[in-house]
Amino acid sequence: MEIYLDTADIEEIRAAVKMGVISGVTTNPSLMMRAGRGDYRQVTQEICYLVQGPISAEVVSTEAAKMVEEAKRIAQWSPHVVIKVPVTADGLEAISTLIESEVDPDTICQECSWLEKCPLDRDLAQDLALTQGIRTNATLVFSSNQALLAARAGATYVSPFVGRLDDIGHDGMSVVAEAADIFISYGLDTEIIAASIRHPLHVPQAALAGADIATVPYSVLERMIRHPLTDLGVERFLTDWKKATG
Ligand code: E4P
Repeated sequence: MEIYLDTADIEEIRAAVKMGVISGVTTNPSLMMRAGRGDYRQVTQEICYLVQGPISAEVVSTEAAKMVEEAKRIAQWSPHVVIKVPVTADGLEAISTLIESEVDPDTICQECSWLEKCPLDRDLAQDLALTQGIRTNATLVFSSNQALLAARAGATYVSPFVGRLDDIGHDGMSVVAEAADIFISYGLDTEIIAASIRHPLHVPQAALAGADIATVPYSVLERMIRHPLTDLGVERFLTDWKKATG
């Protein structure tokens, strides 16, 4: 299972990239607000540059035609961008329309301040954009029915919100497990992102339930690393090394 970071905070992303453990990032309007970033295009392009993997950026329109229009604009920011669309009737219509749509290779990565330093040169970015098309992440998924519908509409990813279901007394992880079973039984290649992860235990639970990816807040990533026996072990080795070497 891959690990994505669920944040729009550039410093958190830099720190996680340094560890070499994340392969993508998910953002949403609330995370942008929390990171104090209203410059949606610039922050998304900076994240794409730093991570060089799938970066989910959410549409804020609610009508299918407007979602598609917004998604097409956002998809031009980088071939790494994945369009996050909520699972509503309009959202499903937008997803199924976007799967037929193409990115314009001539204006891909336009206005990106990171372009010169980016490992993706213009040709590579254009090739990627053309081969991948517009990828979507069906978000705000709270049932396996919604996951199935999103996969049938052609979503690249579906994001069951585990923590928000747990918050209201439902078993969030069961949606991940059911969706994984259904996708395997019927050969659906939509990937499952376990989202709304609240604590470290959610991560192995998501992996065992069959999620392809878990997207975790930085605070959860930090807690995944820490173990008191690791700290104690390092301390003991250092003390003994000092004794051994005088
Ligand atoms: C996922 O893509 C969402 O951004 C995120 O996981 C939502 O989590 P929350 O329930 O903590 O807001």
